[in-house]
Amino acid sequence: MVKIGSIELGDFPLLLAPMEDVSDPPFRRLCKESGCDLMFTEFISVEGLIRDADKSVQKLDIYDEERPIGIQIFGAELESMQQAAEIVQAASPEILDINYGCPVKKVVCKMAGAGILQDIDKMVSLTDAIVKSTSLPVTVKTRLGWDENSIRIEEVAERLQDVGIQALSIHGRTRKQMYKGEADWTLIGKVKNNPGFKFRSLEMVISIPRRRLWNIKTVMV
Ligand SMILES: Cc1cc2nc3c(=O)[nH]c(=O)nc-3n(C[C@H](O)[C@H](O)[C@H](O)COP(=O)(O)O)c2cc1C
Repeated sequence: MVKIGSIELGDFPLLLAPMEDVSDPPFRRLCKESGCDLMFTEFISVEGLIRDADKSVQKLDIYDEERPIGIQIFGAELESMQQAAEIVQAASPEILDINYGCPVKKVVCKMAGAGILQDIDKMVSLTDAIVKSTSLPVTVKTRLGWDENSIRIEEVAERLQDVGIQALSIHGRTRKQMYKGEADWTLIGKVKNNPGFKFRSLEMVISIPRRRLWNIKTVMV
């Protein structure tokens, strides 16, 4: 049984990846009807949320028939992230997910999304603070590293685990690869099978046959 916090997801759950301009409520409804076990909202800017920006606040809309659902946020400033975590908690999702994977320039130039892969210490301390400031299970979605010379995903996974995240989704590319090129699934397998790695669930974007190869129980599409 895969569990995130106290959320039971069955033996081989299928997750819907967060996708900006795609994973909105109508799309999520279709995915739920088609058997999706856990879904995430589009990513939401913490700076928009704390300023009550319509576009950001609207993305907090979740519906009972979608549960369990995670709300995903992105940002870089500790205080804004903590305030946003409170806002997210008030919206009552099952999970608060942090985006450390978005590769687009306007996000990474502020050290948000995958930008934070350039400063792993900051990623860990931000995550630590968010875990402490919410009673929701906190999960993280990230990439292998900033570029091919700075791949530290095994260390990142261990350190995020130590500050209390409940699950980790890994996009098997670096920020430099954006959305192109081959994903390196072998590293995802290494993280999952690290003897020091105690997560009971590890979600990732991975094909079904490879999932079996590394005993990975959760698939995100
Ligand atoms: C249109 C689009 C929007 C996306 N938006 C988000 C997002 O808001 N948050 C996030 O964590 N990932 C986002 N992603 C990344 C996906 O969740 C997923 O990790 C990625 O698409 C996997 O790589 P693949 O498309 O090569 O399978 C987005 C991807 C696409 C294609």
